[in-house]
Amino acid sequence: MEPIITKHVREPNSFTLDFYLRHGGYESLKKALASHTPDQIIEMVKASGLRGRGGAGFPTGMKWQFVDKKSDKPRYIACNADESEPGTFKDHVIMERNPHLLIEGCAIACYAIGARIAYIYIRGEFFHVQHVLEQAIADARTRGFLGTNVFGSGFDCEVYVHRGAGAYEAGEETALLESLEGKRAQPRNKPPFPAVVGLYGCPTAVNNVETLANVPLIVQHGPEWFAAIGPEKNGGPKLYSISGHVKRPGVYEASMDVTLKELIYGEQYCQGMRDGRTLKAVIPGGSSVPILLPEHLDAQASFDGVLKAGSMLGSAGAIVLDDTTCMVWLAENLLHFYRHESCGKCTPCREGTDWLHKILRRIEHGEGQMRDLDLLASIGAQIGGKTLCAFGDAAVTPVLTTLKHFRHEYEAHIRDGRCSQVADWRARQPIGAH
Ligand SMILES: Cc1cc2nc3c(=O)[nH]c(=O)nc-3n(C[C@H](O)[C@H](O)[C@H](O)COP(=O)(O)O)c2cc1C
Repeated sequence: MEPIITKHVREPNSFTLDFYLRHGGYESLKKALASHTPDQIIEMVKASGLRGRGGAGFPTGMKWQFVDKKSDKPRYIACNADESEPGTFKDHVIMERNPHLLIEGCAIACYAIGARIAYIYIRGEFFHVQHVLEQAIADARTRGFLGTNVFGSGFDCEVYVHRGAGAYEAGEETALLESLEGKRAQPRNKPPFPAVVGLYGCPTAVNNVETLANVPLIVQHGPEWFAAIGPEKNGGPKLYSISGHVKRPGVYEASMDVTLKELIYGEQYCQGMRDGRTLKAVIPGGSSVPILLPEHLDAQASFDGVLKAGSMLGSAGAIVLDDTTCMVWLAENLLHFYRHESCGKCTPCREGTDWLHKILRRIEHGEGQMRDLDLLASIGAQIGGKTLCAFGDAAVTPVLTTLKHFRHEYEAHIRDGRCSQVADWRARQPIGAH
């Protein structure tokens, strides 16, 4: 598939309004306002089958339909630009190199749900990207694509960028809303869902950057065109962030009938494992999803394909691991992250992630005991499904999935007091800070 969202991102000045206008920019917004009612836009997005690109793959049109229209309160679009999931860096590319596509998507989404304001909640570390977006919004406003009476249609729309303070949990949709309101990024009880009680207690649709970037394409080319890209119920162009032990890590765009094998070994993608190494495992959807093994590589990199293989597409941030990777070290490394990022609201997650990390650390350092393995599984079971948000499930996944597939590596660590599973373990290549 020829790239669509990222087609021009390598070209100079791709982020400017003039560049965007030269390539048909804001025509979809014009078309939506001129010839479609808000409900027709929602129907169009439903017919396209667009599924949320933030992690859960929930149908976007359905989410918009759930937004409470009976309420007389204002409605909001909250664009999730937190992009904190380890191994995920695709939204960053859209915002930095094609920001007007996102802004146009925000405006059409506002029109569809009857909102006048979209907030782009951006990850704290994306300092430069924030400025690119703010400039793009100012330019769009100057030319009348935002502001009052857009295209003379009577539709008013403003887009604001709100920078977070660098917390992973702020990407969870209700924690994001709390943070937007100026509070700590901690999750809310659900229900009520944001579509009914969201930002400032008003109906709100929370959508990922890539999700919203697809909306102008659907309006421009029609829902059938969109649905026909890729397998059934997994339509549309998809961005993959691929990192780890591959020759050419990066952001790649493909239709979702691409397989994991093609993404890792394909000439136009990652071109295989680096240094002639062999593949040991891949975490296909950001660090929070179950590990897949080499025998799963023929799986389609789609929502349903990865699910069938036993994992989740999640944010489509694939972390590729070669045979030098110690799986105990991997789990310890990830739990170091989750322990630090737990927001602390739910006791099982706050306390449990710390315990998991401590135990993993002592096993990794050659000081573990066999009974630690049962302890890890037991603590994991007491966190998963027992927290307000999916952070708890995410945090235990690296432990439970490595224990399931690589228990022998844990046992070897405990038995030998060192990492003996990988023959030349000293040569192993770190994928992050140890
Ligand atoms: C701990 C945690 C972190 C999350 N981080 C992000 C994130 O950085 N970006 C994102 O789009 N979704 C993230 N999500 C998913 C959001 O809660 C939400 O499902 C998503 O923004 C919905 O957008 P979509 O329907 O367009 O996918 C996270 C979820 C959890 C539980």
